[in-house]
Amino acid sequence: MSQYHIKNLEEYFQVYRKSVQNPEQFWEEIAEENFIWRKKWDKVLSWDFSKPELKWFEGAKLNITENCLDRHLHIRGNKTAILFEPNDPKAEAEHITYKQLYERVSEMANVLKDFGIKKGDRVCIYLPMIPELAISVLACARIGAVHSVVFAGFSAAALATRINDSDCKMVITSDGSFRGNKTIDLKGIVDKALEDCEGVETVLVAKRIHSEITMQEDRDYWLAPLLEVAYKDCGAEIMNAEDPLFILYTSGSTGMPKGMVHTTAGYMVYSAYTFKNVFQYNEEDVYWCTADIGWITGHSYIVYGPLANGATTVMFEGVPNYPDWGRFWEIVAKHKINQFYTAPTAIRALAKENLSFVEKYDLSSLKVLGTVGEPINEEAWHWYNDNIGKKKSPIVDTWWQTETGGIMISPIPFSTPTIPTFATLPLPGIQACLMDENGEEITENQMNGRLCIKFPWPSMARTIWGNHQRYKDTYFSAFENKYFTGDGALRDATGYYRITGRVDDVIIVSGHNLGTAPIEDAINEHPAVAESAIVGFPHDIKGNALYGYVILKEVGEGRDQNNLRNEINQLITERIGPIAKLDKIQFTSGLPKTRSGKIMRRILRKIAGNDTKNLGDTSTLLNPDVVDEIIKNAL
Ligand code: PRX
Repeated sequence: MSQYHIKNLEEYFQVYRKSVQNPEQFWEEIAEENFIWRKKWDKVLSWDFSKPELKWFEGAKLNITENCLDRHLHIRGNKTAILFEPNDPKAEAEHITYKQLYERVSEMANVLKDFGIKKGDRVCIYLPMIPELAISVLACARIGAVHSVVFAGFSAAALATRINDSDCKMVITSDGSFRGNKTIDLKGIVDKALEDCEGVETVLVAKRIHSEITMQEDRDYWLAPLLEVAYKDCGAEIMNAEDPLFILYTSGSTGMPKGMVHTTAGYMVYSAYTFKNVFQYNEEDVYWCTADIGWITGHSYIVYGPLANGATTVMFEGVPNYPDWGRFWEIVAKHKINQFYTAPTAIRALAKENLSFVEKYDLSSLKVLGTVGEPINEEAWHWYNDNIGKKKSPIVDTWWQTETGGIMISPIPFSTPTIPTFATLPLPGIQACLMDENGEEITENQMNGRLCIKFPWPSMARTIWGNHQRYKDTYFSAFENKYFTGDGALRDATGYYRITGRVDDVIIVSGHNLGTAPIEDAINEHPAVAESAIVGFPHDIKGNALYGYVILKEVGEGRDQNNLRNEINQLITERIGPIAKLDKIQFTSGLPKTRSGKIMRRILRKIAGNDTKNLGDTSTLLNPDVVDEIIKNAL
């Protein structure tokens, strides 16, 4: 039996038991047997959730890229590491072998060094899904720079906030990006962002769409000519286990986005371990995760997890509906994809289209199907199972978070029997539990509660960049000595977990985490707006969509409401990005508030979801009358 690669349910239970009874020995063996280290650790784990402080593999020295690249060169140097499928279906796919990837990462790393980037410096990467994105990520890791990838759908203002929060010295971007039959002016967005970012010294620009852009002298440089003359070898910076590897921003329920900090050794061990087990990857397989590297899913399961296992990982530049809704399946057939990992929102969108888009293609290569990012509804699960997996490929409904670094609760395919909408069992090393509202652990099954984790796992985020107190307050204060996920969950009679959704003010729209506060802040910037509140409501494809309740100042009264709606959405697009636009905007004279002035979102949520029969107790409201007005005018 190999605890690194679990092959049946009995093994899972054995391995799980060991991981709980003796976690340090468990992770030590995995770390020792499956990775290369420049120096072994002195101590496997030290932790204190009350501070909170966490150290895994303390004293160890390593570089994650030696595990993702160098060690594969002898055994699989000519194997495809990254298979790049461009936006244009007629353009040829690019197979980048491990040897070529090693060379391209080295060249990029040497360019970064030439610009003075060194260990510990932060580099912002704002690129579309082209090979340069993965290469930049790895090049930073090669020289010990901390990468902060910002999803290339974020606006200039959102980009500037993230660049400044972590003091990035450099931005790596491209002239633009392709998105279906559209192009996006990324460099223009970067230029606008940098008007507010004094710390950025250098911008490196990859050429992708060959658009006319402006290059600022002594700041902006085309990448290609620099890479052309760079050495194809670059020694790896030797990192301490707990040195930061990257920062990735995620939305909180209030205020600024949180720059989650992931460190080197624990993240490597856990992302690689979970990749191997959750996807049951075998040497000849071709694996495809449709996420963007701008999200944690792409970090852990397009780049680091697959490459640490010597896998072939697909990077897709395009969108599911270009040139038509068959694109995903065309790619599966063309590259004989074995493991396919996507989001419920994509499945729902695909399921709405004619089945002929699926039936045209041979999907027989598929072995494992995955979903991530939000709860998958039963209908979507069955559509995926019946039409894509043909009832032969197990679906792994993987629950995890930016903060957890890797998959936490998921079936192990061919081992764990699946049930639609259940993420099933915690992976080895993950001590999940449910807590009640009084802070007590719920020990019985068939109960709902708040999902927490009782014991550290190697890839936990270690802090929020520049704000450890917020890290403590957000994750370690709700329940003593536990990591609080922010999610609610149900545990059934067999111990399977079903994630029921967020219990805080984070709303998941098309799999993207959106905090209510930053969106409300953007709305309130409109000169005609006095106050606003947003909530989520169920949406067929996006899972949730956003519903805004807006109180106008006098200047807004009498103005064309549709114009105002467009202006508000335009502001949101500028401040955050198009993903945060509101589907519905209702103008109202007031918002239901408690006597202490807190907006009762519970009521607004019900009205938005057209569920006004059971509004619960409204008598404690400061202004109960406003509820009737809101119901009457609901959209
Ligand atoms: O609410 C959970 C939901 O997504 C949140 C984490 O979002 P993010 O940090 O953006 O990471 C997404 C990709 C890992 C969680 O708190 N979520 C994620 N996966 C699932 C899920 N909800 C239900 N089922 C899932 N499989």
